[in-house]
Amino acid sequence: KIPIILDCDPGHDDAFALILAIFNEKIDLLGVTTVSGNQTLEKTTLNASRILYACGVTRSLPLAKGCDGPLVKYPRNFQLNTTSSKGDLNDHPTEVHGESGMDGAEFPDDINVSLCEKHAVFVMAELIERHATRERPVHIVCVGPLTNISLFIKLYPKLHKFIRIVLMGGSFCQGNVQPTSEFNINYDPIAAHIVFHSNIPITMLPLDLTHQVLVTEEVSRKISSLSSTFSQTMLGLLNFFQSTYRDVFGISYPPLHDPCAVAYLVDPSKFETTHIRVDVEISPGLCTGQTIGYFHWKRPGCRKNVDVAMKVDVEWFWEIMLQALKKADQN
Ligand code: BDR
Ligand code: CA
Repeated sequence: KIPIILDCDPGHDDAFALILAIFNEKIDLLGVTTVSGNQTLEKTTLNASRILYACGVTRSLPLAKGCDGPLVKYPRNFQLNTTSSKGDLNDHPTEVHGESGMDGAEFPDDINVSLCEKHAVFVMAELIERHATRERPVHIVCVGPLTNISLFIKLYPKLHKFIRIVLMGGSFCQGNVQPTSEFNINYDPIAAHIVFHSNIPITMLPLDLTHQVLVTEEVSRKISSLSSTFSQTMLGLLNFFQSTYRDVFGISYPPLHDPCAVAYLVDPSKFETTHIRVDVEISPGLCTGQTIGYFHWKRPGCRKNVDVAMKVDVEWFWEIMLQALKKADQN
């Protein structure tokens, strides 16, 4: 089993990353940490506990709250800048994930999931110290802004050799926040810069890949045929996500970004990766948070720092995602 810590900001697609991490037999989920992004830290943490509770995971798994905002906040026009349904300026993508960060389904009020008292970064360090060896490193799977992991990198240099990073973020085609910037990187570009230049082995799953993994009608039909309360809840989330993707991006079937990062660890051979250098644009401007990939760059002295996954076996992805949903259903 591959030991992982899932660092997330649920988020509709984060919810599916959690389910895959909990129910795929190849993954050993050691802990879940939260960060602000799709919503405030309070809301993303509540959403993480809602999914854990729905999956029947209440006490055995450490859940820890991390950072509530980027390392450096840029002037508004260089980071996500949208208007909520109430007309307020917004720091979170409510037009995609709603006011709760996970609109579209009902969750019980009395969820009973225990939360660690310590900050996520300390919990990460403890879990790594307890579980990692050089031969069996812990994978930090980041599916939100990179704020928590960037702090971990600065605070625990001696633990670098015990981890690998798999992250959903960035884009080499179009962005989804600015023309060339993807949300997770644009939300905290300085954190992303720290991560990409940490010398820690990184696998990146950009929008180029996640936009192949679409929730088509056939996928929705298969999920709705599961027919339990759990799967209907998940379907409610997907229906909401589909309608916002249609309204905001004009895309009929939404891409399910975040579980791709967990799926990569289930079977890397199902992905096509290329080892290149990636830099992050950190200056405030039109391209804040853009990821620049040196795909065809041959000049000497250019240190390669990232394995970028550009293609995935989509059919296989949905097979393992549906298997996980079935298991969650029977739980
Ligand atoms: C990423 O941004 C968030 O809205 C999603 O949860 C995903 O992690 C996609 O750009
Ligand atoms: Ca996310």
